Formats: sequence, C-alpha cells, structure tokens
Amino acid sequence: MPRLSATETARVQFRLNGRDTTAEAHPRMLLSDVLRHDVGATGTHVGCEHGVCGACTVLIDGVPARACLTLAVQAEGCDLRTVEGLADAGDGALSPLQAAFREHFALQCGFCTAGILMSLDALFAADPDADEAAIRDTLSGHLCRCTGYTPIVRAALAARDRIKGGTTDA
Ligand code: FES
Ligand code: FES
Repeated sequence: MPRLSATETARVQFRLNGRDTTAEAHPRMLLSDVLRHDVGATGTHVGCEHGVCGACTVLIDGVPARACLTLAVQAEGCDLRTVEGLADAGDGALSPLQAAFREHFALQCGFCTAGILMSLDALFAADPDADEAAIRDTLSGHLCRCTGYTPIVRAALAARDRIKGGTTDA
C-alpha cells in the first residue's frame, strides 16, 4: 500500500452510480465529505459522523458501509452507489423502493431516508424474500429522528413485494 503524506492530496478513482469518477482527497478525508463536497452527491446525509445514525450509508461494491467511517482513499477502484443512483438515470423514474416510500408516507423529514434506502436496496438484492424481521433488523442500524418507523416498515414490505413482482409503479 502506498504511503501517503498527510499534507498532499491523492487522486482517488472510483465508479459512482455507474460513472467513472475522480476526486482529489487528503488521506484523512472522509468518503462522506468527498461525496458531498467534491463530487456533489449531497443525497448522502451526515448526521452523527460516528457511525451510529446510518444517514451516510452508501454501497461499496454492493455492501452497505458508513461513509463517515470510510476514508475517501479507501474507495479507490471501488464501485459506489448512493441514493442518487436509485432512480432511473434515463427518465428519472423512482425505483420501487423510492416509490413505496412516497406512497406509504415513509419519508417524513427525509434526513435518514437516503441511508435507509441504500441498506434496504442491499437487503433485497441479497434476499428478495426478506421478511419483516429481517427488514426490522436492517432498520435497527438506522436512527430516524422523526421516529415514524411503522410507515418505513410498511413501505419496505411493499417495495419488497413490488420488486419481486417486477413492477415499479407506486
Ligand atoms: S453520519 Fe455516518 S453513521 Fe451517522
Ligand atoms: S424521516 Fe426524519 S429523521 Fe427519519
């Protein structure tokens, strides 16, 4: 592994929502900050910056990760997905997850939503039959300050069924 100077930036290259992306980052910079401030992916929210709240969750090579606990240089060569990558890049149509959240009023203030969507996206990719217990277990890694978890669970269940059925409409 190359040794990086704390005062020099390093060029970091990764795929972001299907696009080759390059950023310049000091070795200590967080992935959440680089995504938000350098790349413009502001859908990734920052709450606690301690790995607790889950708002900053992104997918790194398909696996949910706290962007606030990941150094940007660790993303070198990785495939990143953020909430901006969920909607159809062509016509902007919402993903089944996003549509279900809107339909079931699961957005509330929306601050925690991006991270929750990314974790659920990974859950359903790994287990299309994930039951309510698995959904609640996934949500346990996310703090929602609006505390309305019931509509979030309802939306997740609806999204799961919609994804399995192959439909995207709300
Ligand atoms: S901002 Fe990363 S877990 Fe809270
Ligand atoms: S919807 Fe407001 S913090 Fe979760």
